Amino acid sequence: MTPLKWFLSFLKKYRPQMILGIAMTTVIAALSIVNPYLSGIIVDDVITAGSYSMLPGLIVCLLAVTLLTSILRFVYQVVFEIASQGTLYDMRSRVYRKLLEEDFAFYNKKRTGDLMSRQTGDMDAVRHFVAYVIYVVYQNVLLFLFALLMIFTVNVKLALCMLTVLPFTALATYRQSREVKPAFRRNRECFSSLNAFVQENISGNRVVKAFAKEDYEKEKFQAENGRFRDAQLKASRIWMKYVPVFEILSYALTVILMLYGGYMVIRGEITLGDLVKVNGYLWMLNMPLRMAGWWVNDIQNFVTSIEKIYSTYSEEPKVRTPRTGGIHEKLKGEVEFRNVSYRADDEDIVTDISFSVKAGQTVGIIGSTGAGKSTLMNLLCRFYDTTSGQVLVDGQDVRHMDLYNLRDNIGMAMQDVFLFSDTIEGNIAYGRPDCSFEEVRRAAIMADANHFIKAMPDGYDTIVGERGVGLSGGQKQRISLARALLKDPSILILDDTTSAVDMETESYIQTQLKAIQKSCTVFVIAYRISSIKDADLILVMDGGRIIEQGTHDSLVARNGYYARAFRNQYGEIPYDLLREKRRKHDGA
Ligand SMILES: Nc1ncnc2c1ncn2[C@@H]1O[C@H](COP(=O)(O)OP(=O)(O)O)[C@@H](O)[C@H]1O
Ligand SMILES: [Mg+2]
Repeated sequence: MTPLKWFLSFLKKYRPQMILGIAMTTVIAALSIVNPYLSGIIVDDVITAGSYSMLPGLIVCLLAVTLLTSILRFVYQVVFEIASQGTLYDMRSRVYRKLLEEDFAFYNKKRTGDLMSRQTGDMDAVRHFVAYVIYVVYQNVLLFLFALLMIFTVNVKLALCMLTVLPFTALATYRQSREVKPAFRRNRECFSSLNAFVQENISGNRVVKAFAKEDYEKEKFQAENGRFRDAQLKASRIWMKYVPVFEILSYALTVILMLYGGYMVIRGEITLGDLVKVNGYLWMLNMPLRMAGWWVNDIQNFVTSIEKIYSTYSEEPKVRTPRTGGIHEKLKGEVEFRNVSYRADDEDIVTDISFSVKAGQTVGIIGSTGAGKSTLMNLLCRFYDTTSGQVLVDGQDVRHMDLYNLRDNIGMAMQDVFLFSDTIEGNIAYGRPDCSFEEVRRAAIMADANHFIKAMPDGYDTIVGERGVGLSGGQKQRISLARALLKDPSILILDDTTSAVDMETESYIQTQLKAIQKSCTVFVIAYRISSIKDADLILVMDGGRIIEQGTHDSLVARNGYYARAFRNQYGEIPYDLLREKRRKHDGA
């Protein structure tokens, strides 16, 4: 599929409107030849020949045509506007749906601002094309042809003479469009880049402030801003260069008419009325010639934009759900990794991972930063596909499972918590919007979030800002945990979920989790040994490999990496004492 065909597939739905609009445009173009024709008659028959009785009728005709043209013009503009807004609506939602389908690998490489500019600026170029460019170009081509035709009926020699201008215009239009295309592409690229820059800086505003990098960012912005301005100026210079050419060409027509036409009137080859008539058609020839450059710009703009939108749209996600037809079933939660390796950008991220867990067991994963812990979980959720080896859930390769059903069965509290700008209740209930408030509260109690939420001015109705501004790291983590718990998943993944909470809170959460552990397989990624010590299986990771695996006791007995980490972290933590004292007011 080419970008243009793709675009036409949207327009197809508005075929009736487009046909109606085009038909009205045709009628208007045809009506445009009437008034100059009548003017010619007025000059020849009324003024020169003196048949004054014809005048009122002619004037009524003139007015009627003008009125009809105005009405039609109004109606077809409405029609084209409806078609263009409709096309845009469909295109925007189709592209948006595709954006939701795209996988992690897609978003790792894309800049948000760039994606946004495709949904805004580029879409607007498309709207402009459907709502304006299509009919204007069509109408002017018709006007031009009709005018030529009428001039031919007046006098062939005069018409041929005026036609000599045409090849020059065609040449100028062709050259302009060729020159302007790369300039327009660069324009759009600079616009995207500027957008992306601004978006990143607004999102990362707190970092900029914390590092007092305002001046640096201002300078970088000036550079981006300057690049956009220069690109715009360069494109304008190209078309401005052609403006005088088109002007001269259109004036050449007037000059030809006045000199050669005047000469023909004097010689009696045409009447004065004919000259007036042709003069009346002149604007119909002139306008398309003069505006050709503009429309070429508009069309180029449209082509560039549709290509950009389509290139995002046509990027297929590598992770795809097999055509199973939407399965909804509860999984048991058995997980097995069979010689799993994952490479990205020619780099081994994880290598030869093998382990297996029964449903309802708990797995602790520990290891240094960048060891590949989160990647394992991403592979389990199938955010990426393995390069080699298999990830099996309930004995089935995840690649053969319904993607949405798989993820529906997994509750994940991600390492970098993302909260939507919504109420706290809305955020917790994100995975199950139809659940009761009591369920939300229960999940919050299990995540040890209930007491601080209740202490907020609006309680569960408190709106958390974008990304949860106004909450501490630990509070955000607990809301994210509650969100994962509320899903009642078969597999629960806690990726560094308790790193920002104090030991006391963490051990409380662990006690709470014990309650659900029978019904659900739990993966806990943590740095503190205390978080994973009781797990049925502990994976110790380093450099993308599992270097040790087993239970706490077996690993301590092995006296390797884990045992060393255990001895370093333990001893000074009064772990068991903390479990006793918990907050009373949770009512849990
Ligand atoms: N899709 C990917 N493309 C490129 N690099 C990746 C990708 N996923 C993970 N990595 C890299 O792999 C390493 C391990 O990442 P991660 O699994 O997040 O580590 P951990 O969670 O153990 O801290 C990191 O260096 C990370 O940058
Ligand atoms: Mg991680």
